Amino acid sequence: MSTAKYSLLGISGSLRNGAFSTAVLTAMAEATADRADHSFADIGILPLFNQDLYVEPLPAPVQQLRVQIAAADGIVISSGEYNHGIPGVLKNALDWASRPHNGSPLRDKPVLIMTSSPAVTGGVRAQYQIRETVISALARPVGTPEIVVGHVGAKMIDGRFHDPAVIEFALNGFAALFAEIDRNGRG
Ligand SMILES: Cc1cc2nc3c(=O)[nH]c(=O)nc-3n(C[C@H](O)[C@H](O)[C@H](O)COP(=O)(O)O)c2cc1C
Repeated sequence: MSTAKYSLLGISGSLRNGAFSTAVLTAMAEATADRADHSFADIGILPLFNQDLYVEPLPAPVQQLRVQIAAADGIVISSGEYNHGIPGVLKNALDWASRPHNGSPLRDKPVLIMTSSPAVTGGVRAQYQIRETVISALARPVGTPEIVVGHVGAKMIDGRFHDPAVIEFALNGFAALFAEIDRNGRG
């Protein structure tokens, strides 16, 4: 096992200022900073997917996302849930990254999925839709107990996610992600 830090790309499923899902992503990036370097995707600047735009040269934000994914050892998705499902902005980003089907930057990429919601269900329904999308893109969702954060709004202090027990639990998922990257190879 290499001692070099893992390179992870974080994708938040929310564009909202003060988003809980972004706060969870940030908290976990801080909690794993000794093992991984984190960068973050800006999915808010992506155009809506339109296959007519899937031609060279790709729209610059699309190309940027695809380069970020290709360069990362693994992806961390943190998302809320909209109407029992995957937020449209996140699905849009994953669709842009998923082509061509057999040669996309997502292919074989280890992916850790976390969801959160003010509801007790913690976005678990969206989590399974995200998982299906990731599988469709031939990426590798990490097989770990689901990281689902219910009542997330009550776990925020001054705009930051603060729940040591959840963070400790989620660290198991990151350990599984790192193990999958070790099996998969870097980059
Ligand atoms: C259009 C819409 C649909 C929503 N549907 C759900 C839902 O199905 N399940 C749920 O737990 N929360 C739902 N919520 C509440 C969101 O979980 C809540 O707004 C959350 O803060 C969004 O995530 P964010 O903080 O990362 O932006 C919905 C919110 C909106 C605006």
